[in-house]
Amino acid sequence: MQDKQQTLFERVGGEHAISDLIDKFYDRVIADPELKPFFTDSSMDKLRRMQREFFSVALDGPITYTGRPLSHVHHGRGITRHHFALYVGHLIDTLQSRGINDQDVQDIIGRINTYAGEITGDFGSVG
Ligand code: HEM
Repeated sequence: MQDKQQTLFERVGGEHAISDLIDKFYDRVIADPELKPFFTDSSMDKLRRMQREFFSVALDGPITYTGRPLSHVHHGRGITRHHFALYVGHLIDTLQSRGINDQDVQDIIGRINTYAGEITGDFGSVG
């Protein structure tokens, strides 16, 4: 039985596990020919640091996100729903390759999908 008292943050293994997960995830993202061009002018160190915080907060971890609002960071970069779907696909692959159970993967992706509008600027229905 799953311990319902644990947060998702705890269930995936806490701070160290998330740090490692984000590293592996971004290795996949920047190896994707359709996503790589978005990141050529970005500081990947800072991005990974902010993403660790952001994911930790999104999974109910005891962390504060110190980055900029997601809509500001992503606005005007030409990120579409298609790019968003590729990005989420890499996240699913990363989570599954770490043996995180299907229910937790679904919960995590459900939370991440709620940011699709802020990232793409497209607040229409998910399609
Ligand atoms: C739910 C999905 C996503 C989340 C939660 C997310 C989160 C973040 C965060 C926390 C940062 C750092 C903010 C800061 O520096 O203050 C960031 C930066 C960035 N993100 Fe995302 N992101 C998502 C999807 C995407 C997608 C799909 C793309 C491109 C295809 C993308 C491209 C970028 C780029 C290029 C930066 C760096 C901006 C810079 O150089 O300052 N993101 N993202």
